[in-house]
Amino acid sequence: MRSTFFIIGLLLASSLEAASCPYTAGTTARKAAAHHCDDLEPKARVASCRLGQELFSSKELSFDRKASCASCHLPQKDYGDAQARPELRGLGLSLSRTIRLSDVARRVAPYFWNGRAQSLEGAVFWPLYQKREMGADPETLTKFGGGTKVALALSDYLSTLNSADAAWDRYLAGDCQAMSPKAIEGAKIFHASHCENCHLGAEFSGDQVVSYHYENLPQDFFINEESRYGQDWELHTGSIKTDVTLKVKAPSLRNLYAPFGQFGQGSDLFQYLESHEKQVFTPENKSLSDTERSAIVHYLSEGLRSHPESKKTEDHL
Ligand code: HEC
Ligand code: HEC
Repeated sequence: MRSTFFIIGLLLASSLEAASCPYTAGTTARKAAAHHCDDLEPKARVASCRLGQELFSSKELSFDRKASCASCHLPQKDYGDAQARPELRGLGLSLSRTIRLSDVARRVAPYFWNGRAQSLEGAVFWPLYQKREMGADPETLTKFGGGTKVALALSDYLSTLNSADAAWDRYLAGDCQAMSPKAIEGAKIFHASHCENCHLGAEFSGDQVVSYHYENLPQDFFINEESRYGQDWELHTGSIKTDVTLKVKAPSLRNLYAPFGQFGQGSDLFQYLESHEKQVFTPENKSLSDTERSAIVHYLSEGLRSHPESKKTEDHL
């Protein structure tokens, strides 16, 4: 009995400690998530997830047997590729930067830079059928049970690609030493600058698209073809411009890698933020000083990076 009280006392003490970290107001803690197929419920999803895991790195799904999802979504880069544009099959791809898939199921819809998919299962159909990515043919899909089964299997697997907790998560859970004073200062400035208007919740990503202005894009982004999935018209009118305004979903700020932005237009986080502020700050925002911006860089790169980098790298080795 006494030991029960002791344990309750300890629990109370640790939750009091959590409340005593200097800066946690108005923030959202992450919920626990699956890291392996075996963690999924109901059990039918376990088998589906295992099929998805196999298909994710299988080149058999692609029309030319030369690519898999993992060719662009690299496990060691949090399932992104850290390139401005994916290099696949040597094609001149007019695609944007690959979106990191770690924590994708923890993020809220819509999916893709231009928010064209309203569910994760729906999102998977795009790379599955698009020739730029997999271009899977009907016979191959039938071999694995059909397009719907394959898309569900892949999305079940994607729902296990969750990163380990970052320093910020440990800080929110009461480990006040988890982040340096500069990173904590960065968290405060992040909050005070209303970055969370677009980078919401525990994953710091958007729940809708916003208008975003891009300057000095390379000419080969402007190609005269069917617009990218019925959106982003401005890129496909055939007239070469340097500036466009597109509808864009704010990406997650966890586990950032250079280059930054939809088109990989920023190579340095500090400089990227300087130009980003000009696009997203409203007249009420006061512009950030170099010291404030540098504190935000600390928060993002030190506080929101998971260790180990990816919990699931070993699956693909
Ligand atoms: C040619 C490289 C490439 C291949 C191969 C590829 N992807 Fe992607 N993936 C991308 C790019 C680029 C984006 C961003 C595209 C956009 O927003 O229009 C993306 C975005 C996504 C997204 C949206 C993530 C989000 O948070 O919005 C999902 C889901 C996804 N890919 C899953 C897959 C799956 C599953 C496969 C295999 C069937 C796959 N991808 C194959 C490059 C690739
Ligand atoms: C009005 C909505 C909005 C606000 C407010 C906003 N962002 Fe963003 N953020 C976006 C969008 C949209 C993008 C994608 C832009 C691009 O393609 O360059 C983005 C991209 C980013 C990126 C690049 C991520 C990557 O993966 O390349 C960083 C870093 C970032 N924002 C940080 C911040 C910070 C810090 C603040 C507050 C000072 C902030 N954002 C405020 C909408 C917003």
